[in-house]
Amino acid sequence: MADEKKLKVTTEVKKMEKKEKSPTSVKKTVRRKKTSVSKKAKDKPESSDTSEETKVSKKEVVSEPVKEVLKEVPVQQPVAEVPVVSRHPPKRNLNQRRYSVDLSDIKPTTKYLSSLKGKRSIVGLTAYDAIMSKLISKAGVDFILVGDSVGTTLLGYDTTIPVTINDMVYHTAAVRRGNPGCLVVADLPFGEASLSFDRLLDSARRLMQNGADAVKIEGGKDVADDIEKLVATGIPVMGHIGLLPQTVKAIGGYRKFGVDREEADNLYTDAISLEEAGCFAVIAEMMDERIATQLASQILPPLIGIGSGDQCDGQILVTHDLLGLTPSPLPSFVKPCATLGLDGLNALSGYVQNIRNRQLVRK
Ligand code: KIV
Repeated sequence: MADEKKLKVTTEVKKMEKKEKSPTSVKKTVRRKKTSVSKKAKDKPESSDTSEETKVSKKEVVSEPVKEVLKEVPVQQPVAEVPVVSRHPPKRNLNQRRYSVDLSDIKPTTKYLSSLKGKRSIVGLTAYDAIMSKLISKAGVDFILVGDSVGTTLLGYDTTIPVTINDMVYHTAAVRRGNPGCLVVADLPFGEASLSFDRLLDSARRLMQNGADAVKIEGGKDVADDIEKLVATGIPVMGHIGLLPQTVKAIGGYRKFGVDREEADNLYTDAISLEEAGCFAVIAEMMDERIATQLASQILPPLIGIGSGDQCDGQILVTHDLLGLTPSPLPSFVKPCATLGLDGLNALSGYVQNIRNRQLVRK
């Protein structure tokens, strides 16, 4: 009898316990569901939606009251993950350089540049503004060319033909403001060497008075007399033979020069004419490699190549091509040493996304 009573009491207690437990566990489920959804939206990628926690909640949501409570809970959609630029980027020493060239012996004179022939390879790069001027001068170039390639590189033209003397004066002055420690050579743009000597002299004078140490003129024997006269007035001149970008419309496109005998002979005549006119250096663009090598060994001024093989007395390139900043197809001889265009685009897209997501980047 006593045993029977005991059994009855135990069963009653168990029933009560069950009754009490039931709603509590439902409430718990609802709270967990609520927190887990919003937390997940912040912390976890969408794929973790099948986690144990969610499965348990789904299993437990069977009774009516739970369904009702769940309806009232605003379910937030998980936010897609956006790459955020770190607020604490790894510390970098901005002054640290991987390569450093001894700048102490670089002199901003044409005499110095000419004297390098036979001693070491000469390096020239283009610049059109103060920042690039400073950078490439610090890198140790022997000369900066303010080329009329500014037209295709910065100004959005298809060729260098639309570039004016005013453009060249403007960019030459900017390069000078970068205070480079090397020689600055400025290009005479299309047409300046073919109108009259007075016009040529006046344009060269403007370039010199706005920061150039010397001017560059495209052409060989046809412009040699004018070059001689300029040199006589105290304006140092760099020659430019082979492919002449200012004649691209006349020659029907960019191509190699000096591949056949006649053209090779003409290049030789051009190079000698420029030497005799007093050029302190000559650029050889897109020239057959063997011809460029021979010419370099035959003329007194340094022959500085671009797309003319590696046996010239030096090399010049368009800096924007070299740094990967040129969007259009590059000339085949350019091997870019950086991807600044792509890197810049990635950095800017990241910034735009961060701002759209109200994630201000602070240092
Ligand atoms: O304008 C220029 O940049 C040039 C170099 C390519 C030699 O003439």
